[in-house]
Amino acid sequence: MNSRRRFLLTSGAALAAPALLRFPLAWAAGDPFALGVASGDPWPDSVVLWTRLMLGDPGTPPPQTAEVQWELAEDDAFRRIVKRGTATASPDLAHAVHVVPTGLQPGRWYSYRFHHAGATSPAGRTRTAPAPGVVPEKFSFAFASCQQYEQGFYAAHRHMAAEDIDLVLFLGDYIYEISYGREKVRQHDAPTPKTLADYRRRYALYKSDRDLQASHAACPWSVTWDDHEVANDYASDRSETLTPRDEFLALRAAAYQAFYEHMPLRPAQRPKGPDAQLYRMLRFGDMASVLLTDDRQYRSYHACPKPGRGGANVVGDDCAERFESARTMLGAAQERWMADTLAQSKARFTIIAQQTLVAQLDENEGQGRRVWTEAWDGYPAARRRMIDAIANSGAANPIIVGGDMHTFYAADAKRDYDRPDSATVATEFVGGSITSQAPGQNLLDRWIKNNSHMYLAEGRLHGYGRCVLTRRGATVDFRALDDHKRADSAIRSFKTYDVEPGRPGINPRT
Ligand SMILES: [Fe+2]
Repeated sequence: MNSRRRFLLTSGAALAAPALLRFPLAWAAGDPFALGVASGDPWPDSVVLWTRLMLGDPGTPPPQTAEVQWELAEDDAFRRIVKRGTATASPDLAHAVHVVPTGLQPGRWYSYRFHHAGATSPAGRTRTAPAPGVVPEKFSFAFASCQQYEQGFYAAHRHMAAEDIDLVLFLGDYIYEISYGREKVRQHDAPTPKTLADYRRRYALYKSDRDLQASHAACPWSVTWDDHEVANDYASDRSETLTPRDEFLALRAAAYQAFYEHMPLRPAQRPKGPDAQLYRMLRFGDMASVLLTDDRQYRSYHACPKPGRGGANVVGDDCAERFESARTMLGAAQERWMADTLAQSKARFTIIAQQTLVAQLDENEGQGRRVWTEAWDGYPAARRRMIDAIANSGAANPIIVGGDMHTFYAADAKRDYDRPDSATVATEFVGGSITSQAPGQNLLDRWIKNNSHMYLAEGRLHGYGRCVLTRRGATVDFRALDDHKRADSAIRSFKTYDVEPGRPGINPRT
């Protein structure tokens, strides 16, 4: 081989390299199951089984349909297969399938897997919900949110996969559309998504992570979204940058579509254009009712934004708009649904799985309040209606879980946050973030001193919450990594709280 030829080969390889590096190795190898498997939204007799066939470029999948065989078994070795079938993977859904086998036994573990063109997926484990009327010995779940890919590795997911839990509640910011953050450990492979193809690529990048795949494969997930699945700080049809409405709704439609394609959701959650019904209730026998909310699609615009902008701001009491009674976080229909669902809840525990922080967080050390308008503080009248609905419903042992804040918070949910002597109606936990960075701890330490209903604000640590419900009460552990910048990090419980039946409020054990 002459030197000229060698040069051409070398430079050709160098040119080809970036294209290959754009996608994780498994895709280059042609593995149709390179994004793993998932299951979700368990009912007593059915559960969603998910995979997405990778048949080429993750953003622009080939136009033909493909067949996927699926199997559900009572055992990990697939000797006792109880259901099997063939699903059509359509290019309309980027070759994602959402199979819902029915006629299953309540409250039991199953294994599942898929086959396509001679390839077999990794096996997943899933669990149906307990039957109505049944109070199991124990029902446990993790709650997690906010996994900016660049700001850390997914060691938290590896540990979540090893937890003895029945369910993961993922409360939003599954992907991040934007690149930002300190001390990045890895990079997004493309700029901020603008099209359906871009969002599909972003999900494919996140879901190529083996620890995230392991977490999905370990138990069912029930998911909702926050803002970063679409765009930072959006509110219904308005973006932070005041994108023209039609243009923003087209972006929202693309983002919602990609979310559905990549999540183990029931077909009822499939978007229609820019709209999707994501709020829903899941029932786990008579042990727990879980209300999953959507705080983005229907919310009023942020109060008193910065001039010429949409999105969140930090405002004082001079922002009169914030206090308007018509302002809503959930929208009228979802508020009614929540009040009705709470009133009908017969379960021993009522889990309100919303996206952010419900408690007032007054950042002002002196007279008057200063609050961040993105969380429920931007919607105090709507918060009051929700707290009243919880109190008036008689729903037993309400526990609010949340995300979005990138901080572990523990708080009493108060009838009136400005009156420390007012009734505590629920117990609130925000489960930190998987990776996304928090405000400085010095700020958090100062802020919670002004808020006597708050017991913890920890932003240095990253991980998730774990909640174990038994007949004797609830125990919430805050699980934190030693170092979220390390893929091999260990994890530990750094705070544990017991919630006693009939006694709402924070009760720290450690
Ligand atoms: Fe977030």
